[in-house]
Amino acid sequence: MPAIEVKPGIYWIGVNDRTTDLFEGLWPITSEGVSYNAYLVNGDKKVLIDMAKDIELNVLLDQIAEVVDPSKLDYIVVNHMEPDHTGVIKTMRRIAPGVQVLGTARTQRMLAEFYNFTENVQAVNDAEILDLGTHQLQFFAAPMVHWPETMVTYETTHRVLFSCDAFGGYGALQGAIFDDQCTMPSFYERESLRYYVNIVALFHKPVLKAIEKLRNLKIDVVAPSHGLIWREHPEHIIQLYEKWAGYATGKPDLGVTLVYGTMYGNTEEMVDAVAQGVVRANVPIEIFDVRHTHASYILPSIYTHSGVLVGAPTYEGALFPPMAHLMDVLERKRIQNRKVAYMGSYGWSGGARRELAGWAEKLKWEMADTFEFPGMPTAADLRYGVEFGYRFAQSLKEEA
Ligand code: FEO
Repeated sequence: MPAIEVKPGIYWIGVNDRTTDLFEGLWPITSEGVSYNAYLVNGDKKVLIDMAKDIELNVLLDQIAEVVDPSKLDYIVVNHMEPDHTGVIKTMRRIAPGVQVLGTARTQRMLAEFYNFTENVQAVNDAEILDLGTHQLQFFAAPMVHWPETMVTYETTHRVLFSCDAFGGYGALQGAIFDDQCTMPSFYERESLRYYVNIVALFHKPVLKAIEKLRNLKIDVVAPSHGLIWREHPEHIIQLYEKWAGYATGKPDLGVTLVYGTMYGNTEEMVDAVAQGVVRANVPIEIFDVRHTHASYILPSIYTHSGVLVGAPTYEGALFPPMAHLMDVLERKRIQNRKVAYMGSYGWSGGARRELAGWAEKLKWEMADTFEFPGMPTAADLRYGVEFGYRFAQSLKEEA
């Protein structure tokens, strides 16, 4: 895509990544893609704000060249060191040998560690202003949103917040780069939540702290480094992030995530019965098969809902391994304080229930009902399963 003017003298440039399968080598984006948004301020001084992963450098250079001669860049602002934003920095410095790189003091150190250079790097302080004549940039430290060195940059004349990871989301840009041009807002909202839970949610306290710090700024445009630019409703994405950060400690929404795995269909049969019970209680439910669904897609549902139903068989005296993997990811992401119930089939001895109880303890989840049955569920077992699901859902309603 060609460079696009966001405000007078301020341009979006950026790269759509539709070739990387796993963001951070971990989170699937094969179908959705992701954008690495960078920005160019063309005033008395020429400033590049953030960059991109080391792919399609020619696209980025052509976009810069539409506006300014890349070799004449005065500054590169590094809001965040992660290589999805800095992957091209060594090449950019070769193209613009006189460029000054700006970031926090921690960024200065990390540039040496990641890219092995220290010259022409200048640390900026919290709230420091860089006067460019035509434009002013103000820097605000935002540690742990997403790494310790992270900051955001605010352009004071047109009130544009270059927020880097904050307020970003998965999803390649599909022609529209602004919220008011976008014809598929639910896609970007869903992918922003998935990105938030996968990448940022562990740092919910720093997110809230950063939002509080920026609260008094007049922001006309939120320009993140991933996903849509919010110029019609900049407050919308900030409010969504604030709401999502609140799920970590406040009450999640009333609802059930039913996640299951099955070896020969016995646990799955019970899952269908339990789901009937939840629906009978009129509580929203989302169902995921852990064998075929990456944790990336299951996490947002568990993060936003009050109840988790786990259906998994015993496998070699322990929890079905794909379910154990999901629990491990949930623990690493510290998605705590949910209510959980368990049901599953076993062959000759149980074990899954015991292991799940251990995970629940680590996650500070309240373990409610559990129900293990040998082999195939009987008709009586299935009737009990409906009752089991209903009872669990009712208990969530009472606590909502
Ligand atoms: Fe988009 Fe933390 O990198």
